[in-house]
Amino acid sequence: MTTSRSYATSTKASQRYVMSQPDWPSRVVRSGERVALVTGASRGLGREIVSQLADRGMAVVAACRNPGDAERVAAELSAAGRSVTPGRLDVVDVVDVVPISRCVGDILDRHGRLDVLVNNAGISDGDQQASTAAPDLVDLVWQVNVAGAWRCAAAAIPAMSAAGYGRIVNVSSTMGSLRRMTRASEPAYRVSKAGLNALTRVLAAELVGTGILVNSASPGWVRTHLGGGNAPLGVDEGADTPVWLATLPDDGPTGGFFLAREPLEW
Ligand SMILES: NC(=O)c1ccc[n+]([C@@H]2O[C@H](COP(=O)([O-])OP(=O)(O)OC[C@H]3O[C@@H](n4cnc5c(N)ncnc54)[C@H](OP(=O)(O)O)[C@@H]3O)[C@@H](O)[C@H]2O)c1
Repeated sequence: MTTSRSYATSTKASQRYVMSQPDWPSRVVRSGERVALVTGASRGLGREIVSQLADRGMAVVAACRNPGDAERVAAELSAAGRSVTPGRLDVVDVVDVVPISRCVGDILDRHGRLDVLVNNAGISDGDQQASTAAPDLVDLVWQVNVAGAWRCAAAAIPAMSAAGYGRIVNVSSTMGSLRRMTRASEPAYRVSKAGLNALTRVLAAELVGTGILVNSASPGWVRTHLGGGNAPLGVDEGADTPVWLATLPDDGPTGGFFLAREPLEW
């Protein structure tokens, strides 16, 4: 499990993936090219994580709820030899014709592998208080931020286990740190990110020795739709720690929680 040493100087890796889109030109899979799936890729940190992983030579599936967003992002980020393909994925969708298992299945059909999963999709409950929180909103935040990430991990792990390699990054938040949880705002978001961190811990414990490393990342406070315009960090800075964890070497940490590539208190 996580140790106290800094991993800030660890090396980076690479990868690739996608789901079938009849109108999308097929791509030639390069031997050894890693395949990554990034959820919530329509904008903000997800889109930037796709971009940075593609820059590192991975074939990246940009998974979005809206197929049009996925195709737009893939088209925008596919320039200059990058491999970015669109994927359709609503992480709370368990009844539609394209649930998570089919998304992962399509990736495996197309690329024969899935090396990296970045559970980035996330929402907040905004301005409410825990004692009066709207139950439906609390449930939706939980479904997206925890259950959705859990479903994606469960769908990806069999292929990773068979390959003896995997990197799962749960994009969490400093607001999910119990030690730092001294404010009352966005209660469902805070509880969900603490839950996501717990998922990181139990998956990492289960997968010790399999070659699959599971970690939580806090991107910091980043200027996005969710983070708002006053945040101090740009998406390029916020994506750094998730991308670092997605490209860890085999002796990298697992079961950890990191901010700016340094261990963060739970
Ligand atoms: N920005 C910050 O300061 C900050 C700080 C700490 C942690 N984070 C975390 O970073 C991650 C990305 O946040 P962001 O700042 O980039 O926010 P954002 O710009 O609001 O992007 C959120 C992404 O999640 C997607 N999404 C929402 N519900 C989904 C669902 N059911 N299925 C699939 N995708 C869904 C959105 O897709 P649509 O376009 O379809 O809505 C969008 O692509 C989140 O997990 C967030 O909690 C952000």
